[in-house]
Amino acid sequence: MTSIKIRRYEDDDEEEVKEIFTLGMSEHVPTSFVHLLKQPPTQMLLMSWFRIREYRDSDYPVVREVYSTGFREHVGAIFILSLQQRWAQALLFGLFLLLFFLFESVLVSLLGLSGVLLVGWMIVHHLFNQGVQLGLREDLKDIHASYMLPGRISRFWVAESEGHVVGTVGILPCVGEPGAWELKRISVRKEFRGRGLAKRLCQTALQFVANQKVERVVLFTSMVQSDAHRLYHSLGFRKEEEFVWPSLPAKLIHFLVFKYAYTVNTVGSH
Ligand SMILES: CC(C)(COP(=O)(O)OP(=O)(O)OC[C@H]1O[C@@H](n2cnc3c(N)ncnc32)[C@H](O)[C@@H]1OP(=O)(O)O)[C@@H](O)C(=O)NCCC(=O)NCCS
Repeated sequence: MTSIKIRRYEDDDEEEVKEIFTLGMSEHVPTSFVHLLKQPPTQMLLMSWFRIREYRDSDYPVVREVYSTGFREHVGAIFILSLQQRWAQALLFGLFLLLFFLFESVLVSLLGLSGVLLVGWMIVHHLFNQGVQLGLREDLKDIHASYMLPGRISRFWVAESEGHVVGTVGILPCVGEPGAWELKRISVRKEFRGRGLAKRLCQTALQFVANQKVERVVLFTSMVQSDAHRLYHSLGFRKEEEFVWPSLPAKLIHFLVFKYAYTVNTVGSH
């Protein structure tokens, strides 16, 4: 092992001391750069490619479309979740054996299995469409009445880039928890993700309720929406609860819904 000796500085050390100092300082360049990027003025400068504004009635079809597209993205993850269930695996294996027993052909058994998987995919798709329709029949049926009536603490915003709506968020009083507000319909078009847009949309909503002295904001998300979980953590939300969605298909695949909560900092807001 190399022995290390600590001694007093000598004049000959000058060059080496300067080099060690420079190397040590330059190590922090990447973190300082990231820190600089995260500063509000830099963010304002970088984010001038979009603007956030309140919902207008002319946004109605595109808002519903952005929501539906974002929701449908998770259909593949739900299908995989279904296939991970023991009962589903046992069923598929049993079916394969039965077909093999009946037809004595691996090919026929595999074809039969593929047919069943296709039907399974169609069922998941159908259930997902029902989920989308549920949202479209709730607050998104009449967005103006749900969010934009004067005098109410509720609002809907869109993010616009080059005149097109590319992201959405809404906030209104939570039906299931009086005294709390609920953040809803957070969705960003795929091509515009990873650039802080959803974060800015949510911050706009959180600032709005902070100005109204609202103290608690909650939101509901599902176990498969992992990008959204990261967004909520980065905003300061914490997961408070998880429960199986109360429907038979959800129970069968143990589909969990997460409730996140955020304590609004009302100090300094007006
Ligand atoms: C969830 C969603 C809205 C995020 O939009 P986005 O504009 O890409 O998010 P942002 O760029 O503002 O990211 C915000 C934070 O989340 C993190 N994040 C978002 N997506 C991420 C990903 N795919 N991987 C890693 N981190 C991610 C970012 O790193 C960032 O954290 P930071 O500020 O600490 O760096 C978007 O993926 C989406 O529309 N998904 C489909 C609809 C959906 O699931 N909505 C949620 C309903 S509950």
